[in-house]
Amino acid sequence: MGRAEKVVLAYSGGVDTTVCIPYLRQEWGVQEVITLAVDVGQGVSLATAELPETETRRQQELEAIRVKALAAGASVSIVKDVRAEFVQDYALPALKANALYEGRYPLSTALARPLIAKLLVEVAEEYGADGVAHGCTGKGNDQVRFDVSIAALNPKLKVLAPAREWGMSREETMAYGERFGLTFPVKKSSPYSIDSNLLGQSIEAGPLEDPWFEPPEEIYSLTQSVEHAPDRPEYVTLEFHQGEPVALNGEPLAPVALMERLNLWAGRHGVGRLDMIENRLVGIKSREIYEVPGLSVLITVHQALESLTLPKDVTQYKRGIEDTYAQLVYNGLWFSPLKEALDAFIQHTQQRVTGLVRVKLFKGMATVVGRQSPYSLYDPNLATYTAEDEFDHRAAEGFIYVWGLPVRVWSQVGRG
Ligand code: ARG
Repeated sequence: MGRAEKVVLAYSGGVDTTVCIPYLRQEWGVQEVITLAVDVGQGVSLATAELPETETRRQQELEAIRVKALAAGASVSIVKDVRAEFVQDYALPALKANALYEGRYPLSTALARPLIAKLLVEVAEEYGADGVAHGCTGKGNDQVRFDVSIAALNPKLKVLAPAREWGMSREETMAYGERFGLTFPVKKSSPYSIDSNLLGQSIEAGPLEDPWFEPPEEIYSLTQSVEHAPDRPEYVTLEFHQGEPVALNGEPLAPVALMERLNLWAGRHGVGRLDMIENRLVGIKSREIYEVPGLSVLITVHQALESLTLPKDVTQYKRGIEDTYAQLVYNGLWFSPLKEALDAFIQHTQQRVTGLVRVKLFKGMATVVGRQSPYSLYDPNLATYTAEDEFDHRAAEGFIYVWGLPVRVWSQVGRG
């Protein structure tokens, strides 16, 4: 780790990262702490998403975070809205890869970390800082994602992770902050650990640590329960251009707006809840609840469009790559030679992934019910069983003879 004089701290406004400010200065001799709060679309809920004052409230919350850091002793407090970059440069490449960790988790939290790391490095370089800091503990994946991404982008920067070393409980952390005049709102503290952004949220800890315990309804804020989801299905048509979603029900939308809208619609129908035991990089199994309504619909429809437009061998080869890709992103290797090489492959496969997919949202399910594309490889005259059939049935016999030849030889030899 080493000592640093001027440090850029990833700041959320929460207890831990706020206490990091005096802690870095007092205990670790840092002269100057610059805080960076990043808006990746956190803090939205199904209940508030459509209220006209939501955008104003978001601005106020960010301003409150900015001021709070200064009050805690930051010399400069920076807030950046990076929602557009987050979706365009992180979520969409992962969507093209249909990236699902362990086949299920669409990496909503994992994808934000390399972006935050990149911004930390940029601000450090801009302000001539010799270190960056974050509030991650030593048990999770996020510390790995930050540290490795920072090392990939600027190996000279020192990375300071006070919460990995201070060994303070929640109460001790607050008591430490109080010594420096910090106050923490006496709201009923939630037993859960939540991370949220425009792609969804993860919920862990508290009673959820018991894998037999059913998640209580109140932990969900982006998705409706299936019981309360509307009794009528809703149909949504998504238009894709070269693997990227560009319009919803015929209305062209920028990626952030499209993501917000889809989160709302899918969330209302109870789509996108996950409850899983997940293998962390550090070897621990953890119980994770995710709400990822929009992103899970996007992956489902993107896969459907690929099945229509990609050749058989590309589809099947890409499946294997997708799993590797998801593991790389999960394990903190966003900025790595292998991940970047896979991106190039995946990007190349998307040239004809253009067209429409119609999906039915109903009672927790997003079901693809239709697809079309100018590059469709589906040939009705080959597929049909009617008189229109153009497939030459007689060609099958010779094909099967050649296809089955190795098996025939193997069998003859075995029989002696
Ligand atoms: N297990 C998930 C992941 O590794 C969620 C992590 C949530 N992080 C947090 N600081 N609460 O991506």
